[in-house]
Amino acid sequence: MNDNLHQLRCIGCGAQIQGADARPDFRCAICGELFEVEYPGWSQRKGPDRPNPGALKWLWRERRCSSEALDQSGVWRFRELLPILDSFGNAVTLREGNTPLYHLPRSARALGIDQLFAKHQGMNPSGSFKDTGMTSALSVARERGFEWVACASTGNTSASMAAYAARAGLRSLVLIPDGKIAWGKLSQAMDYGAVTCQLKTDFDGCLRLLTQIVLEAPIYLLNSVNPYRLEGQKTPAFEIAEAFDWNVPDHLIVPGGNLGNSSALGKGFRELRELGLIARLPRISVIQAAGANPLVRSITSNGGESLEPVEAHTRATAIRIGNPASWRKAVRAIHETGGWCLDVTEAEIAVAKAEIGAEGLGCEPASAVTLAGLKKLRARGDIGSGETVVLVLTGHTLKDADYTIDFHRGTLLSDDEKAGLEPRIEALRRNAVSMDATADAVLAAMKETAR
Ligand code: F0G
Repeated sequence: MNDNLHQLRCIGCGAQIQGADARPDFRCAICGELFEVEYPGWSQRKGPDRPNPGALKWLWRERRCSSEALDQSGVWRFRELLPILDSFGNAVTLREGNTPLYHLPRSARALGIDQLFAKHQGMNPSGSFKDTGMTSALSVARERGFEWVACASTGNTSASMAAYAARAGLRSLVLIPDGKIAWGKLSQAMDYGAVTCQLKTDFDGCLRLLTQIVLEAPIYLLNSVNPYRLEGQKTPAFEIAEAFDWNVPDHLIVPGGNLGNSSALGKGFRELRELGLIARLPRISVIQAAGANPLVRSITSNGGESLEPVEAHTRATAIRIGNPASWRKAVRAIHETGGWCLDVTEAEIAVAKAEIGAEGLGCEPASAVTLAGLKKLRARGDIGSGETVVLVLTGHTLKDADYTIDFHRGTLLSDDEKAGLEPRIEALRRNAVSMDATADAVLAAMKETAR
């Protein structure tokens, strides 16, 4: 058995190709759909060759005590389930993954749920979940001898790609929408030395253009249309299952933008079940911003059979995406697991973000859609009080400090947007106040907030 034997399978027409034969835009030459990585050896492993779930669980846990770089990575620690490299020596790692799973006691109490957790993917090296997929796909780029890698991005993919490319000694090209990404993310791409092009278009326009460029020049595309990205991004599913001692939580709630992440987590849990490491799947629900909700529209209007792109508008710039590439894969994850797809307003996102901040964690606006969505699912009765829920927080709070400051200053939302939520917003706001440098002034300010 060759553990590094993988192939790509088209999710549209089922065509199977070798990884090295994929087109530069990762679209199927026959039907234009996306590919996913599959491991034919797994289904053939009957009897003694089938991976032993008990042995894998033991091995993965043991590696946490190892001083080897690959073992310290929360992605490559699980390398038996992502044998995509000819040699694991080619892996480029920044010790991504192994992110914390935090209890959210205040939100749990407010929602009448005992077991509410946040898997904080913002605690990755570049501050977002993208690192788990970047380590895998960029390692493939390096193994295949590319000198240039590229992505279109709302900010986090570019920050992550630039960091990993710099570590690997590769050049990186970033296409981002002009003026519509958070400064923290833009500064990272510059800091890590990417060639950064701010284009007068939106994310969807950036991705369209890059798809043309990679067909003309030898540049390795690192958006989540690249199926190797999802192989790394499936590993938080393994970490979550492991954290619950391989009894998975009832619900996983994920933000939806280009829809790679929900697809990857669905694949991760599916593979764990196929290999006998877990007995059932958590329900995976995807939450979008109301102004950038093409998947919600697709599922409500035609059950996820087709998707009409929308012009996207939301202050949660990370998920300001109207034409998500991986929507078919995400529909599969939602349907297969019995999850839901819904959207939340700008004010609901802002309140949820402040509540996650008040738990001492913080996250970027796009991540907060998870808590806002949970409130709706709970109110509808889709999630019971005794069920276990994990929110996937995708980005660090410092990624978009302007948003946080505007919220606390009271300048983020319009009156119309705030309607009905004013008391909650006022209770959460903690604006910085200027005052005289006297003890009396400071003590008065403390009294003021205690009221
Ligand atoms: N949360 C954050 C913080 C993100 O940066 C993204 C996507 C998402 C959620 C949505 O994940 O696309 O897999 O559904 N950011 C991409 C980027 C598009 O370019 O950084 P998705």
